[in-house]
Amino acid sequence: MLLKLGIAKKLFILFFFFLLIFYGTVFESFINVQAMSKTSDRIVSVNNQITSLSKKLQDSLMSMDANDKKFRLLKKKVYFNYFETARKDYIKKLDQILNLDLKEKHLTGKWKQIQKKYQVYTTFRPLDNFISMQTHWGDDILLDEWLGAIAIARETNENQIEQALIEINDRSRHIVKNGLIGFGISILASILGVIVISKSILKPLNKLKAGLQGISHDNYNHVIQISSNDEFSELAAAFNNMSQQLKEDEDIRSDFIASLSHEIRTPLSSIRESVNLVIEEVLGPVNKKQRKFLRIASSEITRISSLLNHLLDTSMLESNVTMTQPKPLDPNQLIKEASLRLASTAKVSNVSISLHELKSAPMVMGERKEVMQVLLNIIGNAIKFSYKNNTVDITILKNTNYDGICFKISDKGPGIPEEKHFLIFKKYYRAKEVRNHMDGVGLGLNISKRIIHAHGGTIFVKNNDDKGCSFFFTLPVEKKKPSKG
Ligand SMILES: Nc1ncnc2c1ncn2[C@@H]1O[C@H](COP(=O)(O)OP(=O)(O)OP(=O)(O)O)[C@@H](O)[C@H]1O
Ligand SMILES: [Mg+2]
Repeated sequence: MLLKLGIAKKLFILFFFFLLIFYGTVFESFINVQAMSKTSDRIVSVNNQITSLSKKLQDSLMSMDANDKKFRLLKKKVYFNYFETARKDYIKKLDQILNLDLKEKHLTGKWKQIQKKYQVYTTFRPLDNFISMQTHWGDDILLDEWLGAIAIARETNENQIEQALIEINDRSRHIVKNGLIGFGISILASILGVIVISKSILKPLNKLKAGLQGISHDNYNHVIQISSNDEFSELAAAFNNMSQQLKEDEDIRSDFIASLSHEIRTPLSSIRESVNLVIEEVLGPVNKKQRKFLRIASSEITRISSLLNHLLDTSMLESNVTMTQPKPLDPNQLIKEASLRLASTAKVSNVSISLHELKSAPMVMGERKEVMQVLLNIIGNAIKFSYKNNTVDITILKNTNYDGICFKISDKGPGIPEEKHFLIFKKYYRAKEVRNHMDGVGLGLNISKRIIHAHGGTIFVKNNDDKGCSFFFTLPVEKKKPSKG
């Protein structure tokens, strides 16, 4: 489902998820911290006070008892006063405890019972009796009973403190645990989110990259299929539109070039025929000067019509590069034939061709006509761009990295700058330096590249260490069927 969303929405969902985890963890911790602060408040404001007041309560009781005994023994009023002070203190502290906001009902009940014990006692032994010193205020059993009741109430209070501390401890552990879980989930979610989002971005990006690489290699038939309903599918649609448009433009251009060459070729041959008729004096005598200029015109017309033929051939070949039935071909034989066909061109250019055959070379698989076309294009270039009185070397190499044969055509010309190596294989590319004074349309290498790729081989160029450059292309070798028996 996530893959069907736009990139912005996917990022927003991931961000929202993080916020949810972050605020969820923070909110949970906040609730726990609040509860902890309430509990610790209760310990500080209630339980601790009860601890200290109850201690004072016990002290008051002990003081009452001691002063009562001293008073009875020594009959000194001062001890009675001490007794009274301790008693009042006892009542005051007990009231203070009862006034505290006691949460636990049973605790309040315990202190109320202690208060009741005192009230019952004073009902049976009215205070006047203490004052008039008629009655002993209590006995040891009573004292022990009261002290015991206070101790029990104190113990309950201590238990309450312990419980509260356990609760605080539990909650703090809970906060740490939940924090860690939230942290773990967010890390896991971020990794998963990054994987999902990057996958959903990288996958279409790779498809677009492949499409763009196709366009840069003049492959306009590449259709990008992206089914995610996001910005990438829109980009893919725009890309497909563009390549379709480019293909149409390219077809129009090729058709135009083909029909133009064809249209020009026919009148051009009749012009050449007419000029030749004049030169041959079929139409009457021609003087020396006229003949000289007519010959120049005739050779220029021949040059233009051979250029047009080349243009027509290459543009027709361009649309028909297909592998139909590859057959085993002898590489040594191929270079021999190509050099023979280009011998006269080489002679005119004052360039010699040197062949370096490979002994017992395996057969290569290919379409004879097309492989020959590649050899003629590349050797033709080597002759065309070589400086005069140099040699073009054609070598057959066994390719060790790859199960195939490599053809190397090396010349001693100007070479090709490194940054132009990818450009020379593009359609109609011709270096600035050769555009004006050398024949050609810039299709030879492009067609050669298409043919070699259709054969499953590779083609590339390297500059020589000394002078000129070398073109390499590979072809697969024939796979020998295992002999039976
Ligand atoms: N051996 C070479 N030495 C130097 N430059 C070369 C060589 N081969 C090709 N080039 C450069 O690459 C360009 C393209 O070569 P390509 O064979 O495609 O076209 P062309 O020879 O100019 O024309 P066409 O082959 O269509 O008649 C050439 O114009 C030239 O600039
Ligand atoms: Mg060429």
